[in-house]
Amino acid sequence: MSAPRGQWNSKIGFIMAAAGSAIGLGNIWRFPYVTGENGGGAFVLFYVIFVVLIGLPYMYAELALGRATQQNPVGAIEKIRPKSFWRMAGFLGVITGVGILSFYAVIAGWTVAYIYKMFVGQVGGFGAFVADPWSEISLFALFVALTSLIVQKGVSEGIERWSKILMPLFFILLLALVIYAMTLDGAGKGLEFYLKPDFSKITGRTLLAALGQAFFSLSLGMGTMITYGSYLSKNDNLVTSGVSVALFDTLIALFAGLIIFPALFTMGKDPSAGPTLVFVVLPELFAQMPGGLVVGALFFVLLTVAALTSTISLLEVPVSYLIDDHKMDRKTIVWIVAGITFLLGLPSALSQGASEFFSNFGLIPASFTSADFLSQMSFIFGDIALAVGAISLSIFVGWVWGIDKAADEVEKGAPLFAKTRGLWKFIIRFVIPLVILLVLLNTVHIF
Ligand code: PFF
Repeated sequence: MSAPRGQWNSKIGFIMAAAGSAIGLGNIWRFPYVTGENGGGAFVLFYVIFVVLIGLPYMYAELALGRATQQNPVGAIEKIRPKSFWRMAGFLGVITGVGILSFYAVIAGWTVAYIYKMFVGQVGGFGAFVADPWSEISLFALFVALTSLIVQKGVSEGIERWSKILMPLFFILLLALVIYAMTLDGAGKGLEFYLKPDFSKITGRTLLAALGQAFFSLSLGMGTMITYGSYLSKNDNLVTSGVSVALFDTLIALFAGLIIFPALFTMGKDPSAGPTLVFVVLPELFAQMPGGLVVGALFFVLLTVAALTSTISLLEVPVSYLIDDHKMDRKTIVWIVAGITFLLGLPSALSQGASEFFSNFGLIPASFTSADFLSQMSFIFGDIALAVGAISLSIFVGWVWGIDKAADEVEKGAPLFAKTRGLWKFIIRFVIPLVILLVLLNTVHIF
């Protein structure tokens, strides 16, 4: 007997959970620093184009595959093409989930610490904080444990209930901060850097970064949406749900930029500071706002929750695979995967100054990403693995499963999809594989 599969309790529950997966550190921490590293406006433009043209249509492919097969990423492929090499695309997703979680939870640990730091008014000292091995490791361990406790409870109990309440609150707080940021002295300069495209800054690396960020931010390319789609019912409308998720996610990333860049230019800081950017700029912004430390504490509480709804989905992918495939008990699996994640994440936790070796790891050339282990993991799993995963899965859906079966699945519960069906089929079969391939080839060429 296979273990009973969970299902979402409501349509809004699914949207909130999928949006919860999508919205996270990728929007608030990763998007602004990658934008800063890649020269601003032109990068943002390509990012938005990739979300609309590639991310959203691709999301439907993952959701349809999950709902049609009612399986995890490996099981879904196995069900359609048993014992074929295509299952490697599913495995890649499972491994990518652990890979991303291993560095993501390190940053999430920083957000937890900043709740406290804001309360006690400790604004500076970021460099010394992340270079302390013991606080880094304990905060990281705490976050992995927190994620595991929730995932252990299962789909609707753990994941759905939390997302539904806290995500809307986060949205409102961000909006208020955007309005405040517009009143800062550096707002004009910040907006110019952020929104005015300078196409001379576009290189192969910029395109890969924009594509990678689009996948990362929407939680695509590793089967998260296959897994979440498998908990959907046939009456759910994939199309409108997908639009809501992509819209919320992109708006929140764009809001984050509208806060960070005005603040950054007001303070005269360097936009290309890398992964530490947000943690240096935001606390200073809160410190100079009237009553800002309380707002700052609340902000980091909500960012912690946003990170948690994302780490939950990262862990859920390997866990759902092991439950479906090995019929093991959810609890046991959760703690085994958590243990592996913890070991894999230790070098990232020590890579911000605690260990000389991991801080200057430098396997991937500096023209792509910073030398520290954490940035390197973010590049390998957050950019490359997601792009490779997405190209494999879109070819699988478009050419192996059969594009019409996939389109039928999307159309169930979404009759209006019939109007754009032809365009969608073309995008999945041709546009997505080709664009990703070109971007990847371009990258190799630069290597
Ligand atoms: N989308 C999340 C974020 O932007 O923070 C991160 C993420 C979650 C990436 C789940 C990939 C994933 F499958």
